[in-house]
Amino acid sequence: MRTVYLTIDGKQITAREGDNLLWVALDNGIYIPNLCALRDNPEPTAACRLCFVEVSGNNQPVTACTETVIEGMEVNTRGTEALRLARHGFELLMASNTVDCAHCPKSGSCELQKIARHLGVKIRSKRLRELKRDLPVDDSHPLIRYDPNKCVLCGRCVWVCRERLGIGVLGFAYRGFERMMTTFEGEPLAKTRCDRCGDCVEVCPTGALVPKEETGAEAKNRS
Ligand code: FES
Repeated sequence: MRTVYLTIDGKQITAREGDNLLWVALDNGIYIPNLCALRDNPEPTAACRLCFVEVSGNNQPVTACTETVIEGMEVNTRGTEALRLARHGFELLMASNTVDCAHCPKSGSCELQKIARHLGVKIRSKRLRELKRDLPVDDSHPLIRYDPNKCVLCGRCVWVCRERLGIGVLGFAYRGFERMMTTFEGEPLAKTRCDRCGDCVEVCPTGALVPKEETGAEAKNRS
């Protein structure tokens, strides 16, 4: 593949033509908020709508996870409109997400905290009415705890379980506000064909899927 030269936030970058813009930026130390993208998923779902960037020649921001790099591309990750869209998307997302950082094992390594810091917003916006879901936590599995109230519906766990591992224990159910990541017919995780690989926990960007033995202190040390 041919080498291309582009700039991101004014930084000169070399990449291979056709490389994914999100990973090129991240690999070059330029953070772009992201929740749903996975490196080994060749077909990004662009579900979280947080990775907006501005690309010269485009009159609208684009999602970095669905863009490939081309020669001479000029990318701005800090453009006013891109940040406005990302902040808005993040606030909407967090309005229905349980925020309990003080007791969450993922605190310190949670992608939501990182995104809030990057965007300069509070993890819970006061502008929007809080929509509590109050869904039951699945504590049935010997190794994994699933709290659907902390799930951001990024789909990473669903994808790795189905595509990377070929198991397909996890999926989505319902629509709109009711939409949730769950198992077939909502059966407890312990009763599924889960092979305990832990990949779903590894890719979860929030405290929704966490290893059972992990305490808050352990999670911080790991990050
Ligand atoms: S990472 Fe691009 S839309 Fe989620």
